[in-house]
Amino acid sequence: MYHALPADPTLSKPALYREIESQLRGLIEGERNGIANAANFSALLFDRLAGLNWAGFYFMDHERGGLVVGPFQGKPACIRIAFGRGVCGTAVAERRSIVVPDVNAFAGHIACDAASRSEIVVPLFRGHNVIGVLDLDSGRTNRFDEEDRVGLERLARIFVDGSDI
Ligand code: SME
Repeated sequence: MYHALPADPTLSKPALYREIESQLRGLIEGERNGIANAANFSALLFDRLAGLNWAGFYFMDHERGGLVVGPFQGKPACIRIAFGRGVCGTAVAERRSIVVPDVNAFAGHIACDAASRSEIVVPLFRGHNVIGVLDLDSGRTNRFDEEDRVGLERLARIFVDGSDI
């Protein structure tokens, strides 16, 4: 059962991420289905983080290659992204999180929702392998910073460790 918490504008970003971490642990406890956990994780982020217009996953497609969209919240999105393409494919190729303060200044950005102005993409690691990415978009420029990167990387770790995906 998910208990919605009221938005608290006085909460620091690290404190907000600690709250979300505890909620994520509660949501995935006792459930290892990766699609179910990814769906609830994206819904949690969309509910708790202000100013998002898209939050969700792209997973590696080992048969066809590249990334394929997974569970998300927001408008319908591009289904497939090749390695090295867009912010998502670049995060996979470079095996690191990428914060894009202004998507118009990122060469090769793939615009799924024309309203997106900034973006953060966090790779999901299973051991040494990148198994997909967590992608968040915002209609505001400069929505994401280092605190978001640290918070989201921690959450991504908890999701992967707690899920068969
Ligand atoms: N903007 C992403 C594509 C995915 S959508 O934002 C949901 C990219 O450039 O990889």
